[in-house]
Parts: sequence; C-alpha cells; structure tokens
Amino acid sequence: MHIMAINYQDENHIFTLNTEHTTYQMQVDRYGFLLHLYYGAKVSGNMNYLLTYYDRGFSGNPADVREDRTYSMDALPQEYPVMGTGDYRSSALIIRNADDSDCCDLRYVGYQIRKGKYVLKGLPAVYAAEEEAETLEIVLEDAISKVQVRLLYGVLEKDDIITRSAVITNCGKDEILVEKAASACLDFITGDFDLLSFYGRHAMERNLQREKIAHGNFMIGSRRGTSSHQYNPAVLVAGTNTTEDAGSCYGMVFVYSGNFRCEAEKDQYGQTRVMMGLHDELFHYPLKQEETLIVPETILSYSKEGFGQLSLQFHHCIRDHICRGKYNKEVRPVLLNSWEAAYFDFNGEMICKLAKEAAELGMDLIVMDDGWFGKREDDNSGLGDWQVNEEKLGCTLGEMIQRINALGVKFGIWIEPEMVSEDSDLYRRHPDWVLCIPGRKPVYSRNQLVLDFSRAEVREAVFLQICQVLDQGNIEYVKWDMNRSLSEAYSMEHHQGKVMYDYVLGVYEFLERIIERYPNLFIEGCSGGGGRFDAGMMYYTSQIWCSDNTDAIDRLRIQYGTSFFYPTATVGSHVSAIPNHQTGRSTSLHTRGIVAMAGNFGYELDPGKLTEEEKEAIREQIKVYRGDAELIQNGDYYRLSNPFLDEYAAWMFVSSDKKRVLLYAVMLEIHGNMTVNYVRLKGLLEDGIYQEVQTGKRYFGAALMEAGIPLPVELGEYLGYRMEFAVIDS
Ligand code: GLA
Repeated sequence: MHIMAINYQDENHIFTLNTEHTTYQMQVDRYGFLLHLYYGAKVSGNMNYLLTYYDRGFSGNPADVREDRTYSMDALPQEYPVMGTGDYRSSALIIRNADDSDCCDLRYVGYQIRKGKYVLKGLPAVYAAEEEAETLEIVLEDAISKVQVRLLYGVLEKDDIITRSAVITNCGKDEILVEKAASACLDFITGDFDLLSFYGRHAMERNLQREKIAHGNFMIGSRRGTSSHQYNPAVLVAGTNTTEDAGSCYGMVFVYSGNFRCEAEKDQYGQTRVMMGLHDELFHYPLKQEETLIVPETILSYSKEGFGQLSLQFHHCIRDHICRGKYNKEVRPVLLNSWEAAYFDFNGEMICKLAKEAAELGMDLIVMDDGWFGKREDDNSGLGDWQVNEEKLGCTLGEMIQRINALGVKFGIWIEPEMVSEDSDLYRRHPDWVLCIPGRKPVYSRNQLVLDFSRAEVREAVFLQICQVLDQGNIEYVKWDMNRSLSEAYSMEHHQGKVMYDYVLGVYEFLERIIERYPNLFIEGCSGGGGRFDAGMMYYTSQIWCSDNTDAIDRLRIQYGTSFFYPTATVGSHVSAIPNHQTGRSTSLHTRGIVAMAGNFGYELDPGKLTEEEKEAIREQIKVYRGDAELIQNGDYYRLSNPFLDEYAAWMFVSSDKKRVLLYAVMLEIHGNMTVNYVRLKGLLEDGIYQEVQTGKRYFGAALMEAGIPLPVELGEYLGYRMEFAVIDS
C-alpha cells in the first residue's frame, strides 16, 4: 500500500509531510499551539525530541501555561507565529482588533487531509493532477476575536515540493485589520545559515548576494506594487558551506507579483526564522465579519545536494505546475521585435518590411512593439488610448496583419494595459481612475500614471479596448508590459490599506479573462524587462522578457541569477545590434546568439542594416536553434560556472534520458599567456560514451563530469562556444 504523503498521528498530534527526499513535520502541543519540528532531508520517527524546555530569562509564558516557566513562545519553533503570544521575534501575522489592540493567539481547532492540490481563489498557485498532490489544511483560531487562520500545505511528493498558503477569515463580529501576513515561516531550531537573495535594478536584474543570517533582522522586499527589478521574491537558505554541487539548501519562491517581504532572523537562542509573505507597509487589510484574505502561496523545496539540484526541482515545479497554456511545452516561435529596430519611429510599411526580412531570415513572428496606438510618438503620451493609429500605420491593423500573414509570418503586438498618460483621452475623461492622493500631485515615472486596477470598472473599460484591438485580425502573440512602479497606494474607491493587494488581484483577473477569451494567444510578460519576473506572472504569461538589457555579457549574469529558480522556458532572450544599445559594448553575432539561446530565442534589431554575411549567419543560427530548441526548453539546465567570479560563463542542457547534451561557454576575460579553463559537465550517465557531434571526439560521462573538458585558448574578446554531445551505443 502506498503511504500517503501526508500523515497524521492522532496520539501525539504530529503531522508529517513526506516527499521523495524530504520530510516536514509539525505538532499540535498540549496547549494547542502548532509547533514546527523539522524540515529537511528525509527522516523517520517523531522529531519532537528536538524541543527543549527550560526557564529562559525574559521569555514570557502564555497565561494558561504560566505555572510552567519553561514554556515560552519566544523560544519555541512555530508554524505560524503571531503577534500577541509573547514571541518577540518577527511575526508571520499581525491583527489589529476592533479595540485597536495588536493581538492574536492562534490555537488549533482541526485539520483536513485531502487528495489533490488546493487552489487559491483569484490568485496564481501551483496546480497538479488529483493523483500528483495532497493537501493538508490546519485550522487555527483566536478564541476572543474569532479570527480564523487556515494554513494550507500542498505536497507534491515526486517533485520534492511543499507549498504553503494562509487563509485568514474574520469569524467575529467586529471589523479587524490584517496588518501583516506571511504565507510561510521556516523556524530552524539549530544550524548556521546563509541567505541568498537576488537584487538588481532596471536593466541589471537578479544579481546574487550571499549573506550570513546573523543576529538581527535582515529584510528584502518590494514596496513598488510589483515584485520589482530590485529584489526578486525568491530566496535560498543554505548551510554556510553549501555550494552549487553539495550541501543543504532550502528555496522559498513567492507566487505573487506585488509587494512582498522576506525576512531572516537569528534569535537570542541561535535559532533561525525565515519568512515570506506580503509586505506590511502600505498594507492594512480590513476584514469585516465573514470576510477573508488569502495570503499568496510560497513554494518550498529542499535539497542536500547543493544549489544545482535545488534549481532543477524549482525548474520542474514552475514549468510543469505553474506555467499553463497550450504553448507551455511547445517550442516557441523565433520572433523579431521592432523595439530596438525602430523604437517609436515606424509605420505600417516598415513593419511589413521587417516581417518580410524576418521571413527571409527564417523567423516565425514579428512583434509590433510600443507606438502603434493613440497619440504615441514618444513615451510622453497616448497610454490608455488603445485605438490603432491607422494614420501612422497607413492602413488598418487587420490589413497589415493580412499582409504579414501572407508572407508566412505570424503577428504579435505590444500592450501596457495598466498605464495611462496624462496626455490621453482616457485620462481626460477619467482623471479619477488613476492611483493618486486627492489634493496632492502624484509621482511621475516615464511621465505616466498607473490606472487603479483594483477597481472593476477601470479594468472593464481597458479590457473592452484591448479586446477591440485583438479582434481586428490574426494576433497570435501579445507582449504585456508594465513600465513603472506604483507610488500612490490610494484608490478613490477602496480602503487604502487594500489597494496594493487588490491591484495585483485585479491584474490577475484581467489576465485570466484575456486567457479565457483568447486561449490560442501566446502572452509574454514584461515590466521594463524583468521587473515582474516572478512565479505569479508565470501562471498567466509562461514567458517573460528577462531584461531590457540585451548586451550579451550582462545577460550572462542576469540569466545566471534568473536560473536559480526559473526555468529557461520562462526566459525571453534576443540577439540585438552592436554596439549594444544599453552598454555600447560589441560582441560577435555568434556570442550574442549563444547567449540568447539560453532562453526563448528571437531578434531585436533591424535586419535591413545587416550585411549579407550577417544575414547568412543568422539563417544558420536559427537553423541550429531549431534543432536545439526542444532540449533548451524542456531539458535539465545546469550552471557550470559563476560568471561573476570565473573567467568564463558556462551552462548546459541535458535531455531527460541524459543522452543528448548541449554545452555553451563564453569567455569573459582574456589575458596574455592564458591559463586553461576546464569545464566540468553535470547530470551525465557515468558510463555513457559521449561523442562530440562536431569533432567526433569521444569521452566517458564520468570523465566529462570529474575532470572536465578544456575550453579552447584563442585570441579575441568574448568568444562563444557551443558543443553538442550524444551518447553512442557501447
Ligand atoms: C519596456 C520594455 C521594452 C519596450 C518598451 C516600450 O521598456 O521592456 O522591451 O517594449 O517598454 O516602451
């Protein structure tokens, strides 16, 4: 008989969640508190022997336990620590009651175990088939305020994935405010840890930072209304010796695209608490009687084999259980985007010319980027007026698409539905539709304002406009952009403490409606590149433009950071012109191609400016990509170097049967009398004989993994290499 992934022992109230290689355990103790016992490599038995009790100074005791001075919430590891029980560490939940007290004392009420994975109404979440997952729901309640919290755990046994969410309901009569809410808390009773987080800025996203979790509270997060370029909502918690290939590590990925807060704290007793949840600033969520707040999901995973293995677990989870849609597993079209080719300076004739050149080069799709609607000659006006500028195009959109389709090229279009320019008809008609504080001037960014997407009528008006555009012809792709941070969390309609959260749910609702209405449309997400590169958006847009920085060398680092959690299939990546528009750097077409091929491939340049040789090289590049695309998109990805530290960047893809391998490398440094760099491959069959397809050279898998392969020593900057290996029989 198969043992359930979720197990409850009635005699000692222990809940155990088992995946193939991990165990997670918690216990309802004699006072009804839900204590965390263990998360890590698979173990058997009850882990409550880890808990220790002694009289600790200045660590108070709850009233019903006060005879026992050894019992303190200030020291015990917990599943969902709240403000109000004498735990002075950071709380997962803070409730402001009707009497203005900040207090909540959650005790156990009951549980339910069911087959399948829970869903979260209005929010993205990991999905799974009925037989792939189990759900545990634990109900906790505050006896006085009747605030009820349902902790949800989803267990995907085969994938070594555990998800967590919290559903907060006001079962009392008086209105309360939720002042802070996390979906996951990991309390570690013992151990020293590092926190790995991914910081950045526009055009330089997801740089890796590794910091010791020390005494104090270390926090990353976003107050920008989006998950942000500045901090990605995903972290690793690792043993201080953990490396790419060895050691213990945990990952936490927030499935949400708005304000978040992740904090790590080492407490007075040397215990570590790491939490992921909604940001508590700009957040005071009111709940009237029977109203509910759902805290977005956090995906957890653990590996004792280093970051590489943990990344694979997240890649599989996000690709197979977050990304949706009919294109998810399909190889994506090779596209040409008009942005860096023409910016705002185009007309219909030019788009058709780009499409013709795209066809001649062997590409599949042309994207008409920003500038086709309203009055939009630059980025100072027009947002909100989603009417085709037929004067600029010189024809209707439908006619233009027909011309493009006749060339055998698909058509895609850019939109930025959440935004409005002051110089637009929409704003002139509805100045009260923007997020803005009455009586104050707003903060501008790119000279645009943000529409209040927490309001249904605002979404509806934009939705109708966008549908009218999408209905004008055979539009097969949309690039969904979002080009500024929110600044005034003030809605003319709603309670101000709700706006940041309701805005994001509004965006999700809008996207879901578009997906329902256009099931064959492929949507690529974007927010000034990777400003909303998160698992929440991936549920709706399974591909996201990774960064506005298309410089091959910077991209190596951006894609390296991105790869810790997000699979290649989610990464949009293009070859652009040189000198690069963001950095002024020049790299060869070959190197630019290799780097862009670590994602969904395309071009972002004017083919009319290319030489015949370059065009021929691009035709060849696309041919090579088509042969590799399936493996790049669905194979296992391994990092083989750290491009922030090493002289080269290297990465590889392996097929699920481990018989086909693609290895890529780009030299980052060149020196006189160069020392040789050896790249060690990963994930191969030890006894497999791998033949390098181009040279015919043969190697044992174990040799490639243990000793590696020398990278060529050649003169020149940023040389790029692609090597292909296949297992030969015997
Ligand atoms: C953002 C995107 C770019 C481009 C411009 C258009 O910056 O990231 O790719 O679409 O907007 O304004």
